[in-house]
Amino acid sequence: MNGSRAFLIAIAVILTAALITGITLLGVYVRLPSDPDYDNIWTEIDKDGNDTFDIDDITTINMDGDEFRILQLTDLHYRAGYKIADSDELIRRTVEIADPDMIVITGDMVMTVENNFYVEHVAELFSDIGIPWAVTYGNHDDEGRADKFYMGEIYENAEYSLYRNGPVNIGGLGNYAVNITRNGEPYYSLIMMDSGTYLEDYPEFSYGTFETGQIYWYDWLQTNLIESGYAKSMMFFHIPLPEYRVAFDEWQLNGSDPAIGFGERREDECHALINIGMFDKIKQLGATTDVFVGHDHVNDYSVEYKGIGLHYGVKSTRQVYHDDDMIGGKLITISGENAEVAVSNILLPE
Ligand SMILES: [Fe+2]
Repeated sequence: MNGSRAFLIAIAVILTAALITGITLLGVYVRLPSDPDYDNIWTEIDKDGNDTFDIDDITTINMDGDEFRILQLTDLHYRAGYKIADSDELIRRTVEIADPDMIVITGDMVMTVENNFYVEHVAELFSDIGIPWAVTYGNHDDEGRADKFYMGEIYENAEYSLYRNGPVNIGGLGNYAVNITRNGEPYYSLIMMDSGTYLEDYPEFSYGTFETGQIYWYDWLQTNLIESGYAKSMMFFHIPLPEYRVAFDEWQLNGSDPAIGFGERREDECHALINIGMFDKIKQLGATTDVFVGHDHVNDYSVEYKGIGLHYGVKSTRQVYHDDDMIGGKLITISGENAEVAVSNILLPE
């Protein structure tokens, strides 16, 4: 073979390889088809002027006995080829210790391009665990082939799942509620929300927050819940409110009173750089007693601030950055006639 022919073959091989790589990369980043339910449009009143709220639209669980145990798991971060079996085992151990009536996972269940495979894995795992479970989206969930509608269909149809896409026109996806009754009477509402991903059109990098429509929707939902006899609620979402930072600072400055808080802050609170006013809305409505988030993997504190419990979950797998001594879950117990809330961290041995 002469030199120029070998050179041409080499060029052809390189170009073919580049083409194949290009097509593959393009292929993996293309979103899989999903089926958005654009009919689920939220309006406060219908065209006849009546409130659209219907308590029967909300999934309801009647508690068994005198306490209701919720296990908050968070930031599972399932991704290709990484610690899958280890993560499954950590979750199953935490569930066994908590012995909950319900599980809420506050976001970042999956990540990376292959999120479509791992959303199926998460659905299979929790269906197999066999305890009613709910999810809210984090900033990483929809970064791969599967968008939130694609994942929403899997979560909505999985066994024991309480997840609902909720309205499509308020911001994010997976804004919905679950009601708990005691002896058939209203007891507590659990409100799940999508706290977004990142702020677009903002001069600096910033994690996301709620959209204005979600604040209106929460106001409408919470007000109607109160009128229906549900005087108290707790909220679950992914990204902390800016008030978390202030709350922890104040708690620490005032001597870390164990009656007001517990747990640790090992990293800064990565909240949005704008404050959309969710905390003020919570205060104004006066029904949400506690807020549970994830997102910052090495924070697990709970602090009361202006009468509201602000809680970080405990990271539940060893995927992505973590501390080995801060893996587990958060146990929330609601008990008695007055619906007292008690919160504690479950930390697995290293
Ligand atoms: Fe995360």
